[in-house]
Amino acid sequence: MSTPALTIIGSVNLDLVASAEKLPVAGETVTGATFAQYPGGKGANQALAARRLGAEVSMIARTGEGPNRDAALALLRQDGVDLSGVVACPDEQTGVALIAVDKAGENQIVVASGANATLSPEDVNIEGHPDAILCQLEVPTACVMAALRAGSGLFAVNLAPAGPVPIELLEAADLLIVNEGEAAFYGEGLHRGGGMVALTLGAEGAVLYRAGKEVARAAAFAVPVIDTTGAGDTFCAALVLALAEGREEGEALCFASAASALAVTKAGAQPSLPWREDVEAFLREQD
Ligand code: RIB
Repeated sequence: MSTPALTIIGSVNLDLVASAEKLPVAGETVTGATFAQYPGGKGANQALAARRLGAEVSMIARTGEGPNRDAALALLRQDGVDLSGVVACPDEQTGVALIAVDKAGENQIVVASGANATLSPEDVNIEGHPDAILCQLEVPTACVMAALRAGSGLFAVNLAPAGPVPIELLEAADLLIVNEGEAAFYGEGLHRGGGMVALTLGAEGAVLYRAGKEVARAAAFAVPVIDTTGAGDTFCAALVLALAEGREEGEALCFASAASALAVTKAGAQPSLPWREDVEAFLREQD
């Protein structure tokens, strides 16, 4: 099996994380938290996850300049993601995500998009012919549409965070990936195009549909939950990679579920992303 090439168009953030006993409700102050800073952003997390799981990965994104850019790109650079398509904008700030995590590993996230919001369709120069393109919705939708029109390989969109998109995107994507909240937002529109839809269900596992019909289901793996941040991104990257490798749908879904299970067992988005050997060893342990 040759190494799949993936291009990821999406966000790069610096995650500022407070871990506390509980998440605040509106107007509440929660004290006693511990603080950590990690590289994050749905696009960058998916790029790094795909790389660690065995793909050649190119990323298209925008950041500001200076220490926040360097910190946000550090692990992508270290692990060999091609960052030649990540533009540094002198007048913009690198995206920042303020994240609160509770003792059960659940989170709340507020994103200050900064340079991510200025990514433009002109930035979306997809070089070569990647086996798959993977986008999310933390950058302008026009950029996702530009990636769709590039027409190379499997075209996948993680519809996160949920928001209005052109119907054409839902109809033309080969694979849409959603959690339960996102599925409720898009409703039947998800199945209009007859492509694949992957639905993650947390503790209930994940389901893959094709043309509106269930074609595969994977149970969730029981693991200790430390931090769920980045688990959805890991699932997206792993599923796209496995499908690009030509794996059968059920096997691809199981691989993605195992990868995302491992991602919740460590703190932080990018530090928790597993390598391929970890996922394969984990799957062998389950047999
Ligand atoms: O999906 C998790 C990511 O969402 C975090 O890393 C944060 O940056 C936000 O974009």
